[in-house]
Amino acid sequence: MANILVLYYSLTGNTEQVARSLAAKLPADLEPLRDAKKRGVGLSHLGTVMQVLFKTPARIMPVSMSLSDYDLVVLGAPVWAGDMAAPMRTLLKTQGRLINKLAVFCTEQGSGGEGALRKMEALCGKTAVAAMVVLEKEVRSGAWDDKADPFIGAIREAVGGCPDDRIRQVV
Ligand SMILES: Cc1cc2nc3c(=O)[nH]c(=O)nc-3n(C[C@H](O)[C@H](O)[C@H](O)COP(=O)(O)O)c2cc1C
Repeated sequence: MANILVLYYSLTGNTEQVARSLAAKLPADLEPLRDAKKRGVGLSHLGTVMQVLFKTPARIMPVSMSLSDYDLVVLGAPVWAGDMAAPMRTLLKTQGRLINKLAVFCTEQGSGGEGALRKMEALCGKTAVAAMVVLEKEVRSGAWDDKADPFIGAIREAVGGCPDDRIRQVV
């Protein structure tokens, strides 16, 4: 059976909810990416936005496994200021290129998701076999579940020996 990891960052729980469900359905290992220092919310989001805009590295906890040990890694992150959340950028800058096959998803309020996913792919140096943008309201209502089927299908196809890993399903 294919060896799949769902690795996600989540500040307020939306991305975590999607990641947990994907890991259960695929099935896959699940690993959270964590800030090394507690990240403020509310007004303190200003610091977080500045970190994204200036691409300042975030301090993150080490990830316990090697990404190269997996046939496919699914990365999930919230959209921050039209980009991926800063902790995901920090991880991918050093370890993104260790990933064999890649799938990406993000959660957002309403804009910037597609661009954030392209940047995640660029840091990993490869095109994702599946990509998905989930709106915050879809997480809350559960409507995102319908989007997950083609996303999961493309991942299963990619690890099932599909010879062309450039096949891409954007939902
Ligand atoms: C600092 C910050 C910046 C954000 N910037 C955007 C944005 O540019 N576009 C957007 O659609 N949502 C934006 N959001 C909303 C989050 O992407 C959305 O709430 C996401 O689902 C949060 O995921 P999480 O609960 O896993 O942390 C932002 C949220 C925060 C905290």
